[in-house]
Amino acid sequence: MVTEQNNVSSLRPIRVGLLGIGTVGGGTWTVLSRNAAEITRRAGRPIIITKVADKNLERARSMTGGAAILTEDALQVVDDPDIDIVVELIGGYGVAKELVLRAIANGKHVVTANKALLAVHGNEIFAAAQKKGVMIGFEAAVAGGIPIIKALREGLTANRIQWIAGIINGTTNFILSEMRDKGLSFDAVLREAQRLGYAEADPTFDIEGIDAAHKLTIMAAIAFGIPMQFDKVHVEGISRLDAIDIKYAEQFGYRIKLLGITKRRETEKGPAIELRVHPTLIPARRLIANVEGAMNAVLVYGDAVGATLYYGKGAGAEPTASAVIADLVDVTRMATADPENRVPHLAFQPDALIDTPILPMAEVESGYYLRMHVADQPGVLADITRILADQRISIDALLQREPAEGEGETDIIMLTHIVREKQIDAAIALIESLPVVFGRVTKLRLENLS
Ligand code: NDP
Ligand code: HSE
Repeated sequence: MVTEQNNVSSLRPIRVGLLGIGTVGGGTWTVLSRNAAEITRRAGRPIIITKVADKNLERARSMTGGAAILTEDALQVVDDPDIDIVVELIGGYGVAKELVLRAIANGKHVVTANKALLAVHGNEIFAAAQKKGVMIGFEAAVAGGIPIIKALREGLTANRIQWIAGIINGTTNFILSEMRDKGLSFDAVLREAQRLGYAEADPTFDIEGIDAAHKLTIMAAIAFGIPMQFDKVHVEGISRLDAIDIKYAEQFGYRIKLLGITKRRETEKGPAIELRVHPTLIPARRLIANVEGAMNAVLVYGDAVGATLYYGKGAGAEPTASAVIADLVDVTRMATADPENRVPHLAFQPDALIDTPILPMAEVESGYYLRMHVADQPGVLADITRILADQRISIDALLQREPAEGEGETDIIMLTHIVREKQIDAAIALIESLPVVFGRVTKLRLENLS
């Protein structure tokens, strides 16, 4: 038995080199310092950040108060023979990739929150790490503080995962929630998300769905034992989403969320994987539909366990630091283990990954929400429903806005049963060619998540 006082491990501390002491790096410093005693008791030895590289030395100094060596030159961290683990919290695919590969080549373990880097260059990075016998920790790269990587890789390892659907970008969920609740404009809410530190350095990554696609790429690889295939993700963000569709969706009993969805499918040509990020209507009664603000949630369906839901803060300094430090503890515990006995980076043994094809969007199956602006005259609805019937598309629900006095035009909004995307696209092209239909038809996908 130990007491708080006598629990000073006799083992040499693990020495960590930190690259980037911004939002997440700062949070990591703070939490690691505050909870040092607890973390030491868990890890079996102290974990200490001994060296920090950041472009802004003044900010680094005020954060660390002289308790670590500071440098502007990140190479002085990755090339330092005294550093055991390099924590990369710079971000992006450029210098971060060079530094991570160099740290691996130097035989150092790496912990990173950089989903962009792993989604795009993960196959190369994991191969290099395996060859060198070092570990890459990346719990913080998906859904911030939620331990979803651990859950998928270890907790659910008995399961054949069927599908994952996640709210995995806090910025867009914050924007959609504030727009719906407070009627605020898109731009005003985005500025607030940036001020709160949720948004990426380039917020286009958030609002265009790219950040969610990075995270989905990583989860799909772990869930299905496939390589990272970011370039195959179908990505649509929220920048073209019209507030009116949020309102109409509510009238049907649905909420609109930006979801990352990946599914195992059996097709005529064999097994395939769906990989897509887009605004999605989900029933308002589902727990995940009620995930508001910058919170994240990931629904995972395994054949044995059924549906499981993981909820928490997906961004911010300390929530993300929570995941970074969990990786530091894991790496510390496993550093002396035979690499063969460690949990594989992508859950499946590296030589057991399978190149299952990603399903083209035309073959994806979904329910659909359609909104069309039409002439308010006899026969219009009949023309539209005839086109849908010819494409074997069944209507689930239908709403027509009551036109204003003398307006002569109106909106028709409908939900369909599940069909292939190519059927709905063919129907939309025909509907848009009708002289009584004005402009483009708005198409959104709908998932029941059951
Ligand atoms: P920040 O921009 O807040 O921090 C990055 C830090 O790295 C800055 O201090 C920056 O300095 C410094 N830096 C940039 N280039 C170099 C370099 N060449 N050498 C040394 N330091 C450098 O980013 P975040 O902390 O928000 O994000 C870090 C990573 O974590 C990213 O990959 C991000 O996607 C990921 N992440 C972030 C989350 C969040 O909530 N913020 C959540 C989950 C993941 P300067 O500012 O002067 O450029
Ligand atoms: N920009 C990201 C988000 C940060 O809004 O979710 C967490 O990865």
